[in-house]
Amino acid sequence: MSAILLSGKEASSALLEGLKPEVAKLDPKLVVVQVGEDPASSSYIKQKFKACETVGMRSEHKHLPEDTSFEDLMSIIDNLNNDDDVTGFIVQLPLPKHLTDKEPEVNRAIDPKKDVDGFGAYNLGKMFLSKDYEDLPPATPSGIIALLEYYKIPVEGKHIVIVGRSNIVGKPIAVMLINRSATVTVCNSRTKDLAKITKQADILICAVGKAHFITKDMVKDGVVVIDVGVNRTDDGLKGDVDFKSIEPIASAITPVPGGVGPMTVTSLIRNCVRAKERQINN
Ligand code: GUN
Repeated sequence: MSAILLSGKEASSALLEGLKPEVAKLDPKLVVVQVGEDPASSSYIKQKFKACETVGMRSEHKHLPEDTSFEDLMSIIDNLNNDDDVTGFIVQLPLPKHLTDKEPEVNRAIDPKKDVDGFGAYNLGKMFLSKDYEDLPPATPSGIIALLEYYKIPVEGKHIVIVGRSNIVGKPIAVMLINRSATVTVCNSRTKDLAKITKQADILICAVGKAHFITKDMVKDGVVVIDVGVNRTDDGLKGDVDFKSIEPIASAITPVPGGVGPMTVTSLIRNCVRAKERQINN
């Protein structure tokens, strides 16, 4: 058996195409704030601007020096909150070391109406209630849901094992899947006897940030594998999943790159359109 390749590139290009008329009608604007020169962040931001260009959305890059102070960053956030021309904005993470501890405070400072990353407590809290309240859901989890929907992979009643418990992927995707009637187990890299649990997964979502952490002996035949990891190694970009050995026994699997990554970007664009719609209707 050979797995269906869950191409985020293909799904995102179809979804972006569908967003073009709304972008043309609503004319939203996205601002990306970057502090410093983290190469991975620069590459993600480039992809975000490319998607803006594809759908015809206005965008702006606020690129701040590495040694930007917390006070200066907060003042820029305040200006963006109060700028009526800005629909939504994100502060690209991770922040430089001297600001790492401030990340929760930074996320909290973003106006929930403009929080197109969906990282703030207000949008996370609404998402917690039910899927009907996912107005601005976090981009990677909502990209994973969109990818499963695009390939018509049902989640209801399935045992979904998530490896990784981060605030931006593991925890919110668990909630979104529970709200879609999946049976969800959340593990992390320190879970005892991890393989015993991952082997039970109908759908396995891995977001631990360790290259090839999930090996063939940890999955069952026919599993659907969603690999969120993007790990820079001497051999190039690698996922959290050992694609080569697992692909022959999986029923479907995401590639890295070209799987979850493009879906995250597409969800961000979709959130920007939704934010503008809600701002107009308010
Ligand atoms: N760093 C890695 N992924 C993301 C994301 O989706 N949003 C932001 N702001 N930073 C990130």
